[in-house]
Amino acid sequence: MRHVLSLLDLSTEEITRVLALSAQYKRDLKAGSRPSVLANNTLGLLFEKPSLRTRVSFETLTTQLGGNSLFLGDDVGWGKREPVQDFMPILTSYLDLLVIRAKSHAAVAEACEYSRCPIINGLTDVSHPCQALADMLTIQEHTADINKTKVAFLGDGNNVSYSLAVICCKLGIEFTLGAPVNYQFDAALIEDLNNHAGKELIRQSEDPVASVKDAEFVFTDVWTSMGQEAETKQRLADLKDYQVNTELMSKAASNAQFMHCLPARRGEEVTSDVIESGSSLIIEEAENRLHAQKGLVVWLTQEANA
Ligand code: CP
Ligand code: NVA
Repeated sequence: MRHVLSLLDLSTEEITRVLALSAQYKRDLKAGSRPSVLANNTLGLLFEKPSLRTRVSFETLTTQLGGNSLFLGDDVGWGKREPVQDFMPILTSYLDLLVIRAKSHAAVAEACEYSRCPIINGLTDVSHPCQALADMLTIQEHTADINKTKVAFLGDGNNVSYSLAVICCKLGIEFTLGAPVNYQFDAALIEDLNNHAGKELIRQSEDPVASVKDAEFVFTDVWTSMGQEAETKQRLADLKDYQVNTELMSKAASNAQFMHCLPARRGEEVTSDVIESGSSLIIEEAENRLHAQKGLVVWLTQEANA
């Protein structure tokens, strides 16, 4: 059974297929068509962390495609009320698809071992593949030539930047992480990604200005992710030179656009004027979560696990 824990689980052709389905479902929806491809299907959402975009976009896309969604919070007792060997096969024997947002990536990998239905990672401490798919759908819509575009991510080498680096690597796009050494990706990870790509596509630098040079898309994310609240003060101090502000945007490509997975902390990783500017794609990017996940759900349930 196929699951999606990371975009490394998909080939380049499969990611391209998911993005094509996403674009098609977006066009269909805008034209008023909501095909009932998930009729009588139930999608579970097992969430250990808060969410606006991920929860609501998955619930909405399920409704739009004729299925039903079930939000499962703390009360179901994952990891608390009974052993995972009982919990996961039982839960997933009721469901057609399960989205998990978890504190620990390893716990989602363990859930896959016991699952009887496909699982999608709805964010862990390590990766956020659904976000990267929506980001790439947005990039495709806003660049003349995807093969020539450049992406920069300023700030933390976290779940969001990691997944963005993976999808860039898979699709042959140059990606640079601008971050202090302690917040960069492991060197081995960069090497693996570049070996996978067959060329040096994924880079990292301590220099924020050099990182955004020629970038058409400048990304950031919060400096303190969910679960890291105790490190907030240190992170604010360590990452302050990596803020995306008007001056830094002026060092990127002349047509550079700003992206952020949201929620954002204005005045920290990004200034209000950048997030409110005409070059900010944040609302479209968030809307694209709905369309990108439609492509992913349809691919996973109707093609990869058909
Ligand atoms: N970007 C994102 O995943 O948002 P939520 O945490 O609101 O789901
Ligand atoms: N890096 C952030 C992303 C939130 C969507 C976090 O994990 O909290």
